[in-house]
Amino acid sequence: MSESVALNEQYELHVNGEVRPVRDSWLGESLLYVLRERLGLLGSKGACEQGECGSCSVLVDDELVCSCLVLAASAVDQSIVTIEGVAPIGSPSDVQQAFVDAGAVQCGFCTPGLIMATHALLERTADPTEFEIREELSGNVCRCTGYGRIIEAVQRVAVSRRVSGQA
Ligand code: FES
Ligand code: FES
Repeated sequence: MSESVALNEQYELHVNGEVRPVRDSWLGESLLYVLRERLGLLGSKGACEQGECGSCSVLVDDELVCSCLVLAASAVDQSIVTIEGVAPIGSPSDVQQAFVDAGAVQCGFCTPGLIMATHALLERTADPTEFEIREELSGNVCRCTGYGRIIEAVQRVAVSRRVSGQA
């Protein structure tokens, strides 16, 4: 395929409730690349780009995926939610607030992916055991925290939702 053809594709993605045109792209670009480099959504992080670290986690049709492993063009007509779409700026989600309150954020590089993974986990399992939390978040690597405070943050949200009747 010549470069002029390869870099001339146009399509639309549905991201955080908005239709976002993607222009002059190559169909082999990952969703992570398109989100960050073409749509300016820098919250999803790229680290391993091999599906090993979870820093690029987003939701596609409510399913947690590593956006580095998904072709952006394959996500046309699917609903994509990134960390920017979890809550309005200045009004953190309960999961984001719990991570702050529990001291689960240090360098912060893993945090967007872990927040996405936690939202997905608590949608599936409202009251997870510690083992379930560790297992479900095992695809998200954190080099700073030792995971204890991350587990605590997830547990705080589960308890809080239960007490408030949201779970
Ligand atoms: S950058 Fe996607 S899993 Fe590591
Ligand atoms: S807070 Fe630094 S990698 Fe998790």
